[in-house]
Amino acid sequence: MSTIQFEHNEKAARLIAEHYEMPPLAYVHSYGCQQNVNDAEKIRGVLADVGFGICNGPEQADLILFNTCAVREHAEQRVFGNVGALKGLKEKKPGLIIGVCGCMAQQPAIVEKLKKSYPFVDLVFGVNSIDRLPEMICDRFEKAKRVVEMPGERTEMRTDIVEEIPIRRDSDFRAWLSITYGCDNFCTYCIVPYVRGRERSRRPADILAEFKALVAAGYKEITLLGQNVNSYGKGLEEKVDFADLLEMLCQVPGDYQIRFMTSHPKDASRKLMDTIAAHDKLCKHLHLPVQCGSDRVLKEMNRHYNKAQYLELIDYAKKTIPGVTFSSDIIVGFPGETEEEFEETLELVKKVGYMQLFTFIYSPRTGTKAAAMPDPFTHKQKADRMARLLKAQEEIAFELIGRQVGSTQRVLVEGHGRNEGTLNGRLDNNLVVEFTAPESLIGQWAQVKLTSARGAILLGELQA
Ligand code: SAH
Ligand code: SF4
Ligand code: F3S
Repeated sequence: MSTIQFEHNEKAARLIAEHYEMPPLAYVHSYGCQQNVNDAEKIRGVLADVGFGICNGPEQADLILFNTCAVREHAEQRVFGNVGALKGLKEKKPGLIIGVCGCMAQQPAIVEKLKKSYPFVDLVFGVNSIDRLPEMICDRFEKAKRVVEMPGERTEMRTDIVEEIPIRRDSDFRAWLSITYGCDNFCTYCIVPYVRGRERSRRPADILAEFKALVAAGYKEITLLGQNVNSYGKGLEEKVDFADLLEMLCQVPGDYQIRFMTSHPKDASRKLMDTIAAHDKLCKHLHLPVQCGSDRVLKEMNRHYNKAQYLELIDYAKKTIPGVTFSSDIIVGFPGETEEEFEETLELVKKVGYMQLFTFIYSPRTGTKAAAMPDPFTHKQKADRMARLLKAQEEIAFELIGRQVGSTQRVLVEGHGRNEGTLNGRLDNNLVVEFTAPESLIGQWAQVKLTSARGAILLGELQA
């Protein structure tokens, strides 16, 4: 654990108070996974601490920060597009500070490109520098027009965890709680281990303290985050694994439920399934990304499980956890994946019966092993396979979702539905249901009778 340099906070607060007539506003936008969303909450916490107000759009902002994702090329292109679109705003408002942070800023080539082709970007920093933001703000006001950190310059591949970063959460009833950072798995297609660094687990006592504070503050849903939550505990002094951690958290009294993501199948244990089955507070839903259904491709992906082992795990979960549902990520068109191999994925998807599927066409990432593999199939062929996969999944989901109709279930009410007067809520299994109810129910539990299904969304009636 390391400590924040609090003297920079005070100095940054003073500089900001001197520089602006009115308290300035910051807009932080996140791309990518929940871990990034959670990081953005910390970035807002740090900014609020030094005197920024937080706003929900770029128009009023004095500081605009993009917290970026590098997982696929499309994600990066969107960021470059959105950053480019701010050029005009900056010309109109020269005092505007524009920043790019997060996973893209961990790649030297991207930082070079930002430096060279986006001169109106003032601030660039990576995923391990959130606690250093006040120091960078001081530099920006005192020394330089631009503060651009090259990855590796200061904090890259940090092996410690900073525990005291302030946080401004987006919701007052659903919370993200990171339990591990980084990833050691090096799946051959994936950039995450390169941009997020080595896997480290937070100490159980630190997690428990944050968890208890959330429960005491009335949070109803707490989602534990990590690239591979199932390897939680590796490298800690205490002998503790993910199932032990869940067991410990479930002992905290209160009115809440726990979700977690992501579970890597190679480390998902029977003990974990038994723990889920044993506790009402744990949602009966598993996001267990399989990526593909061919043993050869799984090996090339470096996933460390085969189809039979994966299906065995699913079977055990179905047997042990009544009503359990699954979701998964699939990559279509990994280099060299043949038509027959793709069909094995289709077959597996049908066999498991996922409630939701997150599907991606393979995107080569510079520096990863797969990016150097021969890739003879065209984008059109891959897009065609994707369409077939989506169609198959649509039928599966239709059937599974349809089976829920008629039951009455507890939902956590999350917000407004698409139709006037309706709210939406999430079932234990992550499905969304829409129903007519008063706004005051947002953030509360409700009993809802599921009456029909429209695509992936259920319609329901609030029960008294
Ligand atoms: N740690 C999580 C995944 C994080 S990335 C896990 O192992 O399950 C989220 C998803 O993005 C992955 O599951 C994968 O399906 C997809 N993905 C990652 N890299 C990709 C790439 N280069 N091209 C296409 N999809 C990719
Ligand atoms: Fe990427 Fe694999 Fe790590 Fe997930 S487990 S973040 S897919 S390397
Ligand atoms: Fe993207 Fe970084 Fe998450 S690359 S998926 S935001 S860890």
